[in-house]
Amino acid sequence: MTKRTALIAGASGLVGGECLQRLLASGVYSKVTVVTRRSLGAAAKHAKIREIVVDFAQLDSVRADLRADHVFCALGTTIRKAGSQAKFRQVDCEYPRRFAELALANGAKHFSLVSALGASSKSGVFYSRVKGELEDALRAMKWPSLCLVRPSVIAGDRQESRPLERLSETLLRFGPATYRPVDAGKIAAAMIATAQREPRGVTVIESREIPRVAG
Ligand SMILES: NC(=O)c1ccc[n+]([C@@H]2O[C@H](COP(=O)([O-])OP(=O)(O)OC[C@H]3O[C@@H](n4cnc5c(N)ncnc54)[C@H](OP(=O)(O)O)[C@@H]3O)[C@@H](O)[C@H]2O)c1
Repeated sequence: MTKRTALIAGASGLVGGECLQRLLASGVYSKVTVVTRRSLGAAAKHAKIREIVVDFAQLDSVRADLRADHVFCALGTTIRKAGSQAKFRQVDCEYPRRFAELALANGAKHFSLVSALGASSKSGVFYSRVKGELEDALRAMKWPSLCLVRPSVIAGDRQESRPLERLSETLLRFGPATYRPVDAGKIAAAMIATAQREPRGVTVIESREIPRVAG
């Protein structure tokens, strides 16, 4: 089988980090380009990794390097961390959109996005609306293969304290499958399994389906 190359944004985060570990461990991928605003340090010292450190507002300055078969995007922030809705939109919609446009122009075949449960450009909830707007923008690009993963609350070993997320994670464990928390590792596994199949057109993976797709 021909080896694939991968490009990833958000590799310093929870889901992105799980994706990176799996891409490096997979025999399918020969090279992984990591695009990040701060170096991963020792974690980037791997024969397969090429690290590009860039301010995402200046992504065009590294456009020639954004080249791979499969692209993974797990970029994101919170409104609290970003400081305003406009800054949140920049990180959760504008940066991923430009990242996708540049990779597609360089010949990428598959784009995989960590979106969110309830993403819809028609939603009355700002967070879900921004996620939906990004999904719509990606669909409009006409990717040969596009995967939109929509997790509920993400469970995993997070360094940062996010008490509200932890509380909802605990409560939702006893709720319906649609809302149950999903392990970051399962999300990453589902994204990579789908990328390797390169299904034509748009594949939406709802939260409750993630464990099954992850295998
Ligand atoms: N948390 C949840 O329960 C939940 C639920 C559903 C959907 N989601 C969505 O799932 C995605 C992944 O979530 P996660 O929890 O894995 O995210 P995370 O751990 O917070 O990681 C976010 C990634 O985005 C990067 N990033 C943030 N601000 C940036 C900026 N201004 N410029 C460049 N990079 C920036 C971070 O880099 P640094 O390390 O440099 O900050 C990190 O690599 C996000 O889009 C999130 O909205 C999350």
